[in-house]
Amino acid sequence: MSEQVLRAEKADAADELAGVRERFVLDTASDHAAGAAGVYLDGNSLGALPAHVPGRVEDVVRRQWGELRIRSWDESGWWTAPERIGDRIAPLVGAAAGQIVVGDSTSVNVFKALVGAVRLAGEGRDEILVDATTFPTDGYIAESAARLTGCVLRPVTPAEVPAALGGRTAAVLLNHVDYRTGRLHDLPALTAAVRAAGAVSVWDLCHSAGALPVGLDEHGVDLAVGCTYKYLNGGPGSPAYLYVRQGLQDSFDSPLPGWNSHTEPFGMRPEYEPAAGAVRGRVGTPDILSMLALEAALEVWEGVTVDAVRAKSLALTDFFLECVEAYLPAGRVDCVTPVAHEERGSQIALRCPDAGDVMRRLIERGVVGDFRHPDVLRFGFTPLYVGFADVERAARVLGEVVRRP
Ligand SMILES: Cc1ncc(COP(=O)(O)O)c(C=O)c1O
Repeated sequence: MSEQVLRAEKADAADELAGVRERFVLDTASDHAAGAAGVYLDGNSLGALPAHVPGRVEDVVRRQWGELRIRSWDESGWWTAPERIGDRIAPLVGAAAGQIVVGDSTSVNVFKALVGAVRLAGEGRDEILVDATTFPTDGYIAESAARLTGCVLRPVTPAEVPAALGGRTAAVLLNHVDYRTGRLHDLPALTAAVRAAGAVSVWDLCHSAGALPVGLDEHGVDLAVGCTYKYLNGGPGSPAYLYVRQGLQDSFDSPLPGWNSHTEPFGMRPEYEPAAGAVRGRVGTPDILSMLALEAALEVWEGVTVDAVRAKSLALTDFFLECVEAYLPAGRVDCVTPVAHEERGSQIALRCPDAGDVMRRLIERGVVGDFRHPDVLRFGFTPLYVGFADVERAARVLGEVVRRP
């Protein structure tokens, strides 16, 4: 047995989150011809299914919709689900209750947040800074938000933000963790710099929420958005969320003031009067089936702290890097994820020219990560269900794949 296999066994035996894995539906050894269980390292794209969710969704469909029908808007709590589930996500991102509302996609929430941020910044500020390395949708939406608000859009890397801030900066849109490299940006320092310049911060938490502490309230973040289908395991296309800091809620002016955000939605009044609180971030009728699947999925967090998740995430990614070094020929892949813990999210990205082909063959062998154009192998580590033996096996199979033509 290799040193790495023994180390994995020991680490799994000492893992305080090991039992949480049973809350998920994952492959077993019999699912694969090779006789070994698959390894799922793609929870940073689509989190695995919590085992109790199908039964809960069935109840929502058969009983709440099938039997109670329209009564469920009140009796099953459908109408208030966006705020209720927002409060459930809040402790995972370091927010007090009443500041997060769930609904729409991340892209739509980026639009609400960014246009809302420019409106909050007020007169005389006509520049939006956007993370030049951002996931593309944020960049596309920022370009449109800039045109709509009469702002100039300036793409800068997060490291360049402090120097780029000035009296004209209205809003700054940043990613907490870079989707391609897995780099964790310094949210406390960047938020403080944006605040000091008199601008409004907007953070995209897609790759950090559920994987590491965010500390939205503690660090004075103004606005934030994130998806729920990655480390929050809400399911394919599960609704995203919008955080508006409490102190800004009364002046938040949503560019999508749908009837669900009205102070009296059933008053059917022709004039718009925004509701107080997080509800102001709502737009139209919530997508109840996805939303209640997400609500059920969030129960896997019972008894789990984000700090424990972070500690395990760092141990898993450290161990993966060590195994890659032990099992792969030197120089065959280049790690683009920072080695320093304070700069690392919960993924490892390895660069090699034939990454697309390597990932295809890895998936054939039951090791599922993903490929990001043009040359990145991306492996996401969800501490709730990934163990150290998984990590060892993934790196070993990667070593075998890259050795074979
Ligand atoms: C950082 C980031 N922002 C936004 C998105 C996608 O947004 P949407 O939920 O609108 O598809 C992703 C998807 O992976 C992402 O990684």
